Amino acid sequence: MIIAVDGPAASGKGTLTRKLAEHFNLARLDTGMIYRAVGLKALEIGDPADENVAVEAARSLAFDDLDQAGLRDEAAGKAASQVAAIPAVRDILLKFQRNFATNPPNNKNGPVNGAVLDGRDIGTVVCPDAPYKLFISASSEVRAERRYKELQERGEEAIRSAILRDIIDRDERDRSRTVAPLEPATDAEIIDTSDMDADAVFAAALNFISSQS
Ligand code: DC
Repeated sequence: MIIAVDGPAASGKGTLTRKLAEHFNLARLDTGMIYRAVGLKALEIGDPADENVAVEAARSLAFDDLDQAGLRDEAAGKAASQVAAIPAVRDILLKFQRNFATNPPNNKNGPVNGAVLDGRDIGTVVCPDAPYKLFISASSEVRAERRYKELQERGEEAIRSAILRDIIDRDERDRSRTVAPLEPATDAEIIDTSDMDADAVFAAALNFISSQS
């Protein structure tokens, strides 16, 4: 079983895929973390928007980098979105993601029944043959508010207007890039979560998956 979940920043993909992974006993890969780790590495080397810097960062990516502190920070998100627009970077990271989908690692319960991946291009590029594809969206205002609350709960300082600005910029960069832009696969189920809570989104996803089985 492979479930592909795509959508813009802060749309709730992480919450949904955690629930799906537990429900179906799947290995889960948040592919945004891979781009974030490359983004942070690139920031250490130089300008993340510079192809040479970003490619060097992608080539040196190691598994341990995916656990480091700071990956969820807004700076890492911005750098991730910059390196993600570079085709050579995406090429390097594609293999890793496909390998995870077809040979998912065991989880704490032992062998799994498949994989759930979330990102921007899972249904369109990474796993175009996935039997279940979901595209999760919500208005930029709703997503900014969710991110704001999340940061507040973590005790981090946050400015609403700056978060909204960052989300709008990131959407624009993710949607307008020439390679693997953020867009729903033609066969994806689109769920607008603007007026839904996490349980309602999960229920809608399960409904779709059972309708396809
Ligand atoms: O989901 P996220 O906010 O953690 O992702 C960070 C950035 O990484 C996002 O702005 C675009 C990029 N990304 C991508 O281009 N393709 C993916 N499959 C996942 C993330």
